[in-house]
Amino acid sequence: MGEIVSERESRLVLQNLLADDREKELGKDVVTGLTGEPKSLPPKYFYDEKGSLLFEQICELPEYYPTRTETLILKAFGGAIVEKTGPCEIVELGSGSSTKTRILLDAYQAAGYPLRYLPVDVSDTMLSETANKLLKEYPNLSIHALASTYEPALSALPVKQLPARLIAFIGSTIGNLSSQECDQFLDLISQTLNIGDYFLLGLDLQKERTALKAAYNDSQGVTAAFNLNMLTHLNQQFEGNFDVSKFSHVAFYNEKEQQIEMHLESMASQQVSLKDLGLAVEFEKGDRILSEISRKFNRLQMEKTLAKHRLQVIAPYTDEKEWFGLLLCQRTP
Ligand code: AVJ
Repeated sequence: MGEIVSERESRLVLQNLLADDREKELGKDVVTGLTGEPKSLPPKYFYDEKGSLLFEQICELPEYYPTRTETLILKAFGGAIVEKTGPCEIVELGSGSSTKTRILLDAYQAAGYPLRYLPVDVSDTMLSETANKLLKEYPNLSIHALASTYEPALSALPVKQLPARLIAFIGSTIGNLSSQECDQFLDLISQTLNIGDYFLLGLDLQKERTALKAAYNDSQGVTAAFNLNMLTHLNQQFEGNFDVSKFSHVAFYNEKEQQIEMHLESMASQQVSLKDLGLAVEFEKGDRILSEISRKFNRLQMEKTLAKHRLQVIAPYTDEKEWFGLLLCQRTP
């Protein structure tokens, strides 16, 4: 069970489940990934404090259209979403700075509904800073924040306090999951929700390749810095000695898999160790670590997948160019 780290006031509970993870499991996924063929690392290791800030910068880049597009959709349809769900508490997976979520909070507030928010994020610093800002901005908001990966948080959710619950998984973070992982994840979502509860899913949709490639190869090099920061994070967390100057950012669209892939490519033959994990890894020049897949979806196909998991799309929202989809789903019996 998670330990409640602080309870500053009755409107805020901050629960840290990362500590539980750390004892048994933390870093196993790094060992598995770096000893696998091909080498890979889980995208959650992007998001230390620095990485979360770099991701914020990515969202502002002219080439990175997803955040901007999803924001427009939320602004256009936030009111419609609130009308469909009625009073509802928001659980958000990967909440970051909660910038887009404010649009939803505003819409629930405008309807005169009580505000309750349960953000989940692996960056505990970003989580607590954001929670404190939100409490100041929304005097009627209560927050239960969970510093955690998704699974432990979903199984540790506190009792529902409002008539309904909405799990928000926006920003197309679902694109990080392989199709098998996606099925397991949707199973978990479905099990966590009661019948009648809601799931709000943001999806980056398939589009012309040039726009896709540019979004992950920005001219200012922010995405490159974000990718490389994963190695700095691993150095800090596991006493590693990655020489970040000997790796480079590689991102391209894999047509067959319909996904952007980000890799960290070794520019030299080298050995790297992560002391805390008792791990040593050899790299040849040109060897790559797959650090992220970012799948691009077909909306109707995803609607079928969701239906298999008893998540029925009750309202699909999109932008003019149909570059991004926001699907409001309801858990069916
Ligand atoms: C947060 C996973 C949605 O895949 O576009 C942005 C992360 N990686 N630029 C994405 C990301 C490189 C982002 N997601």
